[in-house]
Amino acid sequence: ATRTYGMEVIGFHDGFIGLEHNRYQSLTAANVSGILGLGGTILGTGRGSTKDSSSLEEVTQRCYAHYRELGLDVLVCLGGDGTQRFSRHLAGNTDMRIITLPKTIDNDIKGTDACFGFDTATQIAAEAIDRLHTTASSHHRIMLVEVMGRNAGWLAAASGLAGEADAVIIPEIPYRVDELVEALQARRSAGRHYAVVVVAEGAMSDEEARSGQRPKLHAAAVHLVDELEARTGMETRLTSLGHVMRGGSPTATDRILATEFGTRAVELVDQGVFGVMVAKRSDRIVPVPLAEVAGQHRPLPLDHGLVRSLALQGTFLGAADACTPGHSHGASVPA
Ligand code: F6P
Repeated sequence: ATRTYGMEVIGFHDGFIGLEHNRYQSLTAANVSGILGLGGTILGTGRGSTKDSSSLEEVTQRCYAHYRELGLDVLVCLGGDGTQRFSRHLAGNTDMRIITLPKTIDNDIKGTDACFGFDTATQIAAEAIDRLHTTASSHHRIMLVEVMGRNAGWLAAASGLAGEADAVIIPEIPYRVDELVEALQARRSAGRHYAVVVVAEGAMSDEEARSGQRPKLHAAAVHLVDELEARTGMETRLTSLGHVMRGGSPTATDRILATEFGTRAVELVDQGVFGVMVAKRSDRIVPVPLAEVAGQHRPLPLDHGLVRSLALQGTFLGAADACTPGHSHGASVPA
């Protein structure tokens, strides 16, 4: 932006909180040089906005006032679902010009094939699963590995595939505990006295799905650790990877994707294209209207290559008939 287009760039501290409270710093070629390989962010981040009792309208007006006072031409927002939603809100309720980038480990932003952060988190989880295989096998245990991803199974499926998990439980396929127990017992009967089961934090049982209400995050892993031990007779342990998945240096794939998104965003600023999210579609980086993506959920499609590969190589996916052609995939998943 600065070198090629002569733009002046500032970065707000702690996401929208910095915009609301006018806290920012100058971003120059010199002070961003060398940050590509760092985890986290030099600007800080924040969930939502101020924690006081301000109304959405008041927050919006404070953000807008600072945008105007600073004489900004465009606001570029990087983040997941919450960021996309608040960006659309600002774009729809003020005349702020906004471009967003999809950044979340959950990979659940609609309209883009990929979000940056996902590859790094997948890598961390896959390495953890590798390590858990070793200890699971030594102790003849079932190791449950809970991975983040909110209500989508992208992280669980990708890390489970890369880490060769024996079962992968994702929110998109409500699990049946009887069938999971049977699958683990069949594995033991075949001479494999341990198992690694990846559970998405947003996974739900068939009964929970039928009730129409999503359980709280983590409910599945907490329930299964006791249930599997009691019903298989095998010692069972739970490892919740949690925020470990969000730390450390990003993979080369994420560095490249983030840089390609950023490059395209700057080109769009130069071309005067606003109200869009920069997205990856097949092999291209393209703008998509923010209104089409913000607030939309992007579950892992059951015909996606990740799910098909897991199913075809015999990884148990929560229900015995989860991926047979024509199967309805159990109870429908609550929105
Ligand atoms: O959206 C990213 C994510 O890491 C989810 O996978 C997870 O459920 C959530 O954030 C955790 O949020 P927090 O950092 O606020 O605890």
